[in-house]
Amino acid sequence: MKEGIQLPTIVVVGDQSSGKSSVLESLAGISLPRGQGICTRVPLIMRLQDHHSDKVELQLEYESKTIQTSEARVSDAINVATEEIAGTGKGISHTPLTLVVRKKGVPDLTMIDLPGITRVPVHGQPEDIYEQISNIIKDYISPKESIILNVLSATVDFPTCESIRMSQLVDKTGERTLAVVTKSDRAPEGLLEKVTTDAINIGLGYVCVRNRIGDESYEEARTKEAELFESHPLLSKIDKSIVGIPVLAQKLVEIQAASIARCLPEIVKKINDKLNQNVDELSQMPQNLASAGDAMKALFHITGAAKDSLKKILLQGEFEEYPEDKKMHCTARMADMLHDFSNQLYSKSAEDTLSGNFLIDEIKLLEESEGIGLPNFIPRTVFLVLLQRKVDQIAVLPLVFMTKMWSYIEDVVGDVLTRHLAAYPQLKSATIRATQNLLAQSKKQSENHVRELVQMEMIADYTSNPEYMKNWASLMAQRDRLMEVIRNASQPSLFNLNGFGQVQVGHLRQKSSMVEQAFDIKMRVTVYWKIVVMRLVDSLAMHLLFSLQKLVNHDMLHGIVDELMGPQRGGIERMLEESPSLAGKRERMNRSIKLLKQSKDVVANIMDRISADGQFDNILFQDQSEA
Ligand SMILES: *[C@@H]1O[C@H](CO)[C@@H](O)[C@H](O)[C@H]1NC(C)=O
Ligand SMILES: *[C@@H]1O[C@H](CO)[C@@H](O)[C@H](O)[C@H]1NC(C)=O
Repeated sequence: MKEGIQLPTIVVVGDQSSGKSSVLESLAGISLPRGQGICTRVPLIMRLQDHHSDKVELQLEYESKTIQTSEARVSDAINVATEEIAGTGKGISHTPLTLVVRKKGVPDLTMIDLPGITRVPVHGQPEDIYEQISNIIKDYISPKESIILNVLSATVDFPTCESIRMSQLVDKTGERTLAVVTKSDRAPEGLLEKVTTDAINIGLGYVCVRNRIGDESYEEARTKEAELFESHPLLSKIDKSIVGIPVLAQKLVEIQAASIARCLPEIVKKINDKLNQNVDELSQMPQNLASAGDAMKALFHITGAAKDSLKKILLQGEFEEYPEDKKMHCTARMADMLHDFSNQLYSKSAEDTLSGNFLIDEIKLLEESEGIGLPNFIPRTVFLVLLQRKVDQIAVLPLVFMTKMWSYIEDVVGDVLTRHLAAYPQLKSATIRATQNLLAQSKKQSENHVRELVQMEMIADYTSNPEYMKNWASLMAQRDRLMEVIRNASQPSLFNLNGFGQVQVGHLRQKSSMVEQAFDIKMRVTVYWKIVVMRLVDSLAMHLLFSLQKLVNHDMLHGIVDELMGPQRGGIERMLEESPSLAGKRERMNRSIKLLKQSKDVVANIMDRISADGQFDNILFQDQSEA
């Protein structure tokens, strides 16, 4: 029941002063608390067990406490326990109290006594006492496994009883309701009709009883009861099979046995389901690291697994771990970014050949660098200045690219680590911090490297690429044709220059003296620029691949271990700490699994005995028949 599995139980309900407590006392043969207002303020689970010794053993169990008590002190003990559970006022509580009664001759029965139903609050009871009590009662009588023992006073009209109204709400046909009629001696007139006409649909039948009066002993009371139903002019007409406490006890034991037999297979299934569910849940819970060895093992396991994942997605382009997540198909995404970067470099340095500025920069620079010397030498400074201007234009792009790339990598690494750390939340913050530090370092190195590359392109001009000479020559081959067009004013002013497209050249007609040199230098810069851009893209790509290899294959493991094991970090001990809520949950799960396993064994034993005996009744009734 602790695990939410409904067991067949007999739930005792009744209006206030219906004699409910007296019936229970008579069944158990002990005295229960009596007092003003509601005496039962918490559900009282009474577990009656017949036993062979004459010594009566009474035991109270509540809130994981077990208290031994005696017949003389049981009332006080119940009151103390009730006050502990529900407070000293008149409040009521859902938390049950269990009373185990081991006494020779009692029927083997477990019943739950619920607070009596009262409409009007009295003696400082809470205003909503009726709702509170109804809720508790509904909780207990709603499950279809519950048997409802409805205690009715013979002195009232049954259909007006609150307890009848309630049990009819959950058990319309009355198939699991049994009625006990108390105070038969006080209202014998018409009782026979009441129980035979059954106006209130009691499926399991009626039992009429006479409770103990005053300080009669239980034996005396039984004798008086028997006499009453034997000799009373009206009551003696009632069939003997439905009168007396012993009949009630026998009936309850039979009903309980039948109900257990009916419910057992379902209970077994529920226990198994719940057990499997809990075992699964426990195994999926974050691992508890009990020793430094465990922690080391976990750490290497995580870093190893994360490394493998990162290697696959960042370096090898294998993304079976993330088939649907496009973000994690890293090699493809990085290639995309590189491609974009290269396009940006070209488009940013492209120029407008139709604006009438063609060769103007070159000519101006040549004019400025004119010196005393032969006119057909091209000054190198002009080339370098032009190159620097181009590099300047794009200088920020490689840095932007690297920043974007690293933030993407950080994202991916974070995702992978989070996935692998899911089972070890206590390692998470330190591991993430360590990798963030590492990535920040790598990013810094990349930035420095990129700055250096850009600087190099600014101040140095070199390539061993044979394409340079070849492409330059093929561009230069167009020079003579261009010059012809420029010199002949009757030619159109648009010239189709290979490698540039349509070029506006009209403005060059007045400047023809410098055009040839300017054209030469422009072609050199153009051809060389292509090589520069390609070189930048290639170097960045190479650098990136190198950094990632280094990071994944080497630095990450070291960084994480340093971060977690560093002397100022609290070292391995910190990894062993687990959040209290997690530890608590683990312990609860553990307890619950243990309890379910025990229950499973108990039920399995019962089932074995049933199949061995062939008949269920044998085991359940043997004690009773002895009694
Ligand atoms: C200039 O171009 C025109 C038109 O194409 C052509 O007829 C003429 O011969 C050219 N003049 C010279 C000097 O080449
Ligand atoms: C859970 O139970 C197992 C065995 O029953 C025990 O070894 C283990 O220490 C328990 N764990 C916790 C957290 O209580």
